[in-house]
Amino acid sequence: MQKKRVVVLISGSGSNLQALIDDVQAGNLPVELVAVISNRPGVLGLERAAKANIAADVLDHKLFADRESFDRALMEKIDSYSPDLIVLAGFMRILTPEFTQHYLGRMLNIHPSLLPKFQGLHTHQRAIDAGESHHGVTVHFVTAELDGGPAIVQAWVPILAEDDATSLAKRVQRQEHIIYPLAVKWFAQGDICMQEGKCVLNGEPLPPSGFLIRSDEP
Ligand code: GRF
Repeated sequence: MQKKRVVVLISGSGSNLQALIDDVQAGNLPVELVAVISNRPGVLGLERAAKANIAADVLDHKLFADRESFDRALMEKIDSYSPDLIVLAGFMRILTPEFTQHYLGRMLNIHPSLLPKFQGLHTHQRAIDAGESHHGVTVHFVTAELDGGPAIVQAWVPILAEDDATSLAKRVQRQEHIIYPLAVKWFAQGDICMQEGKCVLNGEPLPPSGFLIRSDEP
């Protein structure tokens, strides 16, 4: 069977991209990473892509007059690789409805919180400040609503008394690097899809929080 073609969008360090690269190279993830596109030049994620012999492309949003024209150019660039799936891996841009509609059902994002809690930025500090006992990360389908599309998989981690945002972020990131390759694998195998605003896994609609994974590892 033809492997699914995946384009990864990044803005920074690309540790989630690296997790995908590692799983592909280990033979655990049956996809072809056809391109990595960054909206910021010079970021580490682009080096990771080049090292893995993946086309590494930059489309600098600062060179565009507005969000609409950037998103249109980005769509053109993405589509030139004929992808089956778009993976947002630390892509720090708000997307236009035209963009999200174009890739509806075939674009995933990872967000470092137990959605629907803590949409937006600074999620680790906000979870600590709110006195939560647990925090985590969610992989979801992207819709027009920011951090609001149906969840595929969610990993929970405990918040410890001595945690600050940095220690908590590290614990969450270890789970990110497990659940993102898993969600991409499910998509590639045809195990998940988006139907009527819900994520369906092997024919069964998932609850709003997606498939749950809990880690008590400190
Ligand atoms: C991750 O924490 C992810 O959850 C968020 O942005 C960060 C990207 O990290 N969306 P990296 O670039 O993959 O290292």
